Amino acid sequence: MMKISASILAAQLSSLGVIIPKFKPKAIDYIHLDIMDGNFVPQISFGEALSEEVSKLTKIPLDVHLMVNNPERHVPNYYKLKPAYITFHRETTEFPIRLAEDIRKNGIKAGIALNPGTPVKMIQDCLPYIDLILIMTVEPGFYGQSFVKSGLEKIDRAKELIGSYPIQLEVDGGVNANNIERLSDIGVNICVAGSAVFKTGKPNESALSLKKLTNT
Ligand code: DX5
Ligand code: ZN
Repeated sequence: MMKISASILAAQLSSLGVIIPKFKPKAIDYIHLDIMDGNFVPQISFGEALSEEVSKLTKIPLDVHLMVNNPERHVPNYYKLKPAYITFHRETTEFPIRLAEDIRKNGIKAGIALNPGTPVKMIQDCLPYIDLILIMTVEPGFYGQSFVKSGLEKIDRAKELIGSYPIQLEVDGGVNANNIERLSDIGVNICVAGSAVFKTGKPNESALSLKKLTNT
């Protein structure tokens, strides 16, 4: 079954205390936290303080997506939240294996994200050390952008690279009712959805109807 990781970046942040406790685990599998530092990406979103508040509002597992430079400095701040995944960008570190191992040592699954312009071969030597690959299908920084043209081919290449490794394939950016069936058909396990879940005003219903469009 396709899993939905709901990106609260696209929600009204002032309403989180009301909407998050209503999230249903059958509809929203993960809460996707987009951490932006105003350096690796142009915007500053939120950090560990708000993430901690989110974690207190729900039992739904957290999916931390760090869009920050110097991830070695930021990653340990999220250990105490016990998220399901911590994902950092390959573009932000020369030491992805060491960082992934450190995340795993803390009992958390490690993910590596790739911008649309970064080839999948950049992580081929990291495969034994990671649990998830996050393929960005928009340039990171904002919700509500369109899925990039090269997205589907990139996902195919990532799937091929993963081979028999037990690695989840997650896609982030521009996922909606028009492309989610195709994404499930080509082997995506987790779809991040921001606008498609929150701009409807009905997060549970929207997440569930996205999942129902998939064949897995
Ligand atoms: C973009 C973020 C995404 C974004 C997804 O930098 O990483 O998680 O919020 O939003 P949509 O689904 O609207 O593209
Ligand atoms: Zn994200």
